[in-house]
Amino acid sequence: MLKAIQVYKAYPTGQGQIDVLQGIDLEVDQGDIVAVVGPSGVGKSTLLHILGGLDEPSSGQVFVDGVDVFALSDADRAHFRNQHVGFVFQFHHLLSDFTALENVMMPLLIAGVSQPAARGPALALLDSVGLAKRVDHLPAELSGGEAQRVAVARALIGQPKVVLADEPSGNLDAGRSVELHALIWDLARSRGQTFVIATHDAELSKRADRVIRMDDGRIVI
Ligand SMILES: Nc1ncnc2c1ncn2[C@@H]1O[C@H](COP(=O)(O)OP(=O)(O)OP(=O)(O)O)[C@@H](O)[C@H]1O
Ligand SMILES: [Mg+2]
Repeated sequence: MLKAIQVYKAYPTGQGQIDVLQGIDLEVDQGDIVAVVGPSGVGKSTLLHILGGLDEPSSGQVFVDGVDVFALSDADRAHFRNQHVGFVFQFHHLLSDFTALENVMMPLLIAGVSQPAARGPALALLDSVGLAKRVDHLPAELSGGEAQRVAVARALIGQPKVVLADEPSGNLDAGRSVELHALIWDLARSRGQTFVIATHDAELSKRADRVIRMDDGRIVI
């Protein structure tokens, strides 16, 4: 479902270049939930962004559902991403001027689904993440955990085959984290979705089907 072949990423800086990813090879099967762990600054977020086609590698290839993502034009890649990949960011990145419901509907609207047609599935998903009573709240009117659940719903609304989550529980307390993990597992398993989750959370990585440990720009296990 997801495959990276010899992915390298270097950032040019004033003090020379930083080699962040140094030959990442990775294969994730459909329906698997994989945790990516490793010290801060090792390149977990960089890898997730590249796997989802948000950021280009310096060299190497990424295949999502058999499609060579970086062989696509920028426009085709953006379209492909919208259709096939969901993102959950560490700090939810909800649009502050839009309600929870509108934020969740957004990927469908961008994909050309009409407002009335997007509304039903978005309401159903918000209900399934326990937010039926918060659909008209703006992000500033939600708790951190609620906002993160909205972000999960937004990532899942388009039924993407692959969901990339960067520290989804990074700003939640232990109880809320466990709840969010249970929710992610429920949704992932019931929909057969593939998840790659960057995390420092031991509870999350213990649940995962597989743990990928990064060090020094490479995968060490
Ligand atoms: N745009 C950029 N320009 C230069 N260096 C960058 C850029 N983005 C990231 N880096 C560097 O790349 C390295 C990897 O960053 P990344 O965010 O992928 O780490 P991470 O493993 O996700 O860390 P954390 O666990 O703290 O989230 C870091 O050393 C960072 O400083
Ligand atoms: Mg990170």
